[in-house]
Amino acid sequence: MGVMKKHFQLALLLFYLLCLQLAGFCNCVGGSICREVERKALVDFKNGLEDPNGRLSSWIGLECCSWTGVHCHNYTGHVIRLDLRHNGGIRYLGGEIRPSLLVLNHLRYLDLSDNLFKNIRIPTFLGSLASLQYLNLSLNGFIGRVPHQLGNLSRLQYLDLSGNYLHMVGSHWLTNLSSLQCLNLTGVNLSETKNVFKSLNTFPLISEIKLSRCALHVPLSLGAEINFTNLRFLVLGHSG
Ligand SMILES: *[C@@H]1O[C@H](CO)[C@@H](O)[C@H](O)[C@H]1NC(C)=O
Ligand SMILES: *[C@@H]1O[C@H](CO)[C@@H](O)[C@H](O)[C@H]1NC(C)=O
Ligand SMILES: *[C@@H]1O[C@H](CO)[C@@H](O)[C@H](O)[C@H]1NC(C)=O
Ligand SMILES: *[C@@H]1O[C@H](CO)[C@@H](O)[C@H](O)[C@H]1NC(C)=O
Ligand SMILES: *[C@@H]1O[C@H](CO)[C@@H](O)[C@H](O)[C@H]1NC(C)=O
Ligand SMILES: *[C@@H]1O[C@H](CO)[C@@H](O)[C@H](O)[C@H]1NC(C)=O
Ligand SMILES: *[C@@H]1O[C@H](CO)[C@@H](O)[C@H](O)[C@H]1NC(C)=O
Repeated sequence: MGVMKKHFQLALLLFYLLCLQLAGFCNCVGGSICREVERKALVDFKNGLEDPNGRLSSWIGLECCSWTGVHCHNYTGHVIRLDLRHNGGIRYLGGEIRPSLLVLNHLRYLDLSDNLFKNIRIPTFLGSLASLQYLNLSLNGFIGRVPHQLGNLSRLQYLDLSGNYLHMVGSHWLTNLSSLQCLNLTGVNLSETKNVFKSLNTFPLISEIKLSRCALHVPLSLGAEINFTNLRFLVLGHSG
């Protein structure tokens, strides 16, 4: 009887320790999975933004994984998506994009499209978000040169820089984006970008490319220069 009781107590203790372990690992028991360093980084990022209509008013408290536009990994609690696309109404975001974003080093998806990021350059540090698979900065008012540092995003599958006031100098860095499937450079001034088709030709997985209104010199020999195997469409022209 005594032995049984001891075994039972031991089992109970082990169970208790297991629970503590789980709670410490991902706070499954408490329900909160947000990581404190990432929460603080998000708060700092928010403090750089202009948000006159309170789009990010839910960004308070400890559970950052339930804040508007923030998505965390279910098991690790790391922030993996930041979806701040403007979805109608007057609730636009603008202002400064702070490097505190770099703390979110598991970020795979960043969408800041269709907001009011006007007359600022694309921050070069975005090129250090090494896990990014999706980057959408379209339909803002970004100015200046497309930073070569974006060439470090070797996992990037979607890159949309359309609808800004950007230009590109040199296309060599593009060849680093070996996972790219969809590239939209509509309206990006490519007149000083030599060999753009040669660079594009190096993407093994590319299926969509948009280069409308890019002030691009399209060589007559285009058909001979490109031979993408997965390409579904390539838009050049002046529309779209
Ligand atoms: C995470 O949880 C959400 C909601 O419970 C669910 O929709 C999603 O599929 C889960 N994701 C993974 C990777 O398990
Ligand atoms: C980027 O965002 C815009 C709207 O905000 C959307 O229309 C477009 O499809 C997105 N681009 C990609 C590649 O998903
Ligand atoms: C990013 O790319 C630039 C060149 O465009 C390079 O100088 C820099 O060291 C790279 N940074 C990282 C973190 O790889
Ligand atoms: C290309 O990627 C490598 C790492 O994969 C990096 O060291 C290099 O700086 C990148 N080049 C450019 C031009 O971004
Ligand atoms: C840019 O082009 C891609 C590929 O065709 C498309 O999915 C996306 O919607 C376009 N972006 C905008 C803002 O229209
Ligand atoms: C593109 O850039 C070139 C060189 O800076 C400039 O001369 C040209 O006017 C620009 N084109 C457009 C459509 O903005
Ligand atoms: C595609 O074009 C490049 C450069 O023009 C060439 O080196 C390569 O062999 C071509 N690949 C195929 C499969 O034709």
